[in-house]
Amino acid sequence: MKSVKVGICGLGTVGGGTFNVLERNAEEIARRAGRGIEVAQIATRQPNPKCNTGATPITADIFDVVNNPDIDIVVELIGGYTLAKELVLKAIDNGKHVVTANKALIAVHGNEIFAKAREKGVIVAFEASVAGGIPVIKAIREGLAGNRINWLAGIINGTGNFILTEMREKGRTFDDVLKEAQALGYAEADPTFDVEGIDAAHKLTILASIAFGIPLQFDKAYTEGITQLTTADVNYAEALGYRIKHLGVARRTDSGIELRVHPTLIPADRLIANVNGVMNAVMVNGDAVGSTLYYGAGAGMEPTASAVVADLVDVARALTTDPNNRVPHLAFQPDSLSDHPILPISACESAYYLRIQAKDHPGVLAQVATILSERGINIESIMQKEVEEQDGLVPVILVTHRVIEQRIDDAIAALEALDDVVDKVVRIRVEQLN
Ligand code: HSE
Repeated sequence: MKSVKVGICGLGTVGGGTFNVLERNAEEIARRAGRGIEVAQIATRQPNPKCNTGATPITADIFDVVNNPDIDIVVELIGGYTLAKELVLKAIDNGKHVVTANKALIAVHGNEIFAKAREKGVIVAFEASVAGGIPVIKAIREGLAGNRINWLAGIINGTGNFILTEMREKGRTFDDVLKEAQALGYAEADPTFDVEGIDAAHKLTILASIAFGIPLQFDKAYTEGITQLTTADVNYAEALGYRIKHLGVARRTDSGIELRVHPTLIPADRLIANVNGVMNAVMVNGDAVGSTLYYGAGAGMEPTASAVVADLVDVARALTTDPNNRVPHLAFQPDSLSDHPILPISACESAYYLRIQAKDHPGVLAQVATILSERGINIESIMQKEVEEQDGLVPVILVTHRVIEQRIDDAIAALEALDDVVDKVVRIRVEQLN
């Protein structure tokens, strides 16, 4: 059978990896796809020294690839929103299938892109957009298709996890580790996307859509970064038996869907709490299967290429199938998507770690306990540390039971208004994931 012709747009970390994997594993890939997958053209402005493209035609203009009549599948690896969107829509218009690793594009413009793809009967595949090499989209969309998904929670930004791990294990500074992540090609072009949780929110938006059958709604995701985390809280969390991870959580409740990215205390003995470095992991809980865990490299040249190539194989196999009988982009049939609302963070439910810097006076703990109990907030554990020498303050650390966030907001406002409480109260959400 004639080989499938692929055009790669962007020869950076992932583009270079994709070319190399396609070349190195060509025979194995053809045995799986039933035909060869051949890179017929590459669009790049500069060569990638880690990639020997040999005689493959190269152009500096991505639209040469999109308009090349020989090409069946366009691989979009240029990143960003604007040009990438134009490229993908043009490719679809030209009747080409698309494979992309671009989570920002899918999370923000996916609804429009998929509608257009359906109209034209082409596939837009995006496994590499979430958690790099981990086939978690395939797992949820196909492997768990018999389940009603209850919740999912994931470490879905390698850079952030790498930073938290190095800070905790080696006492390295935030900036120092971030520079290394950039040099290794893990970080986004704008690394604030990594450390402020935007990248994770893009990925969570995609996962939530395919888990619950809802349209992509990135603008409704709650996002909180890791830049404000202190070593003190990392250490207190450890003393309480927890690890702090930057987690994306999506949960279905009767009133709506929680969609939130924030630092989270997780019991230290959970497998996911021990996912370190650039590795990613996603837990998915379904009513039939219970909890499942998907683990692997969430970024990097060949791990991400692994997902891109898997999508290419899927598309190659599907070329001859009826477009109406393919796996739907968002797992559910497009006319069956639900309008269950995304909840604002104040309506989400979680347990909370609070650190209160208090003056060392009698009755402070009693006042704290009163404020919490008046709002129906149940304390699970409490720890009072010795007076800090430099300022004479006492850190009071407590963990609550699960409660609606609005009540914690009210309690924090009341605590901060106390004469004996100094500074802002530190609040970090706690998830048991059991
Ligand atoms: N910047 C992302 C990360 C790359 O660090 O996880 C993979 O999406």
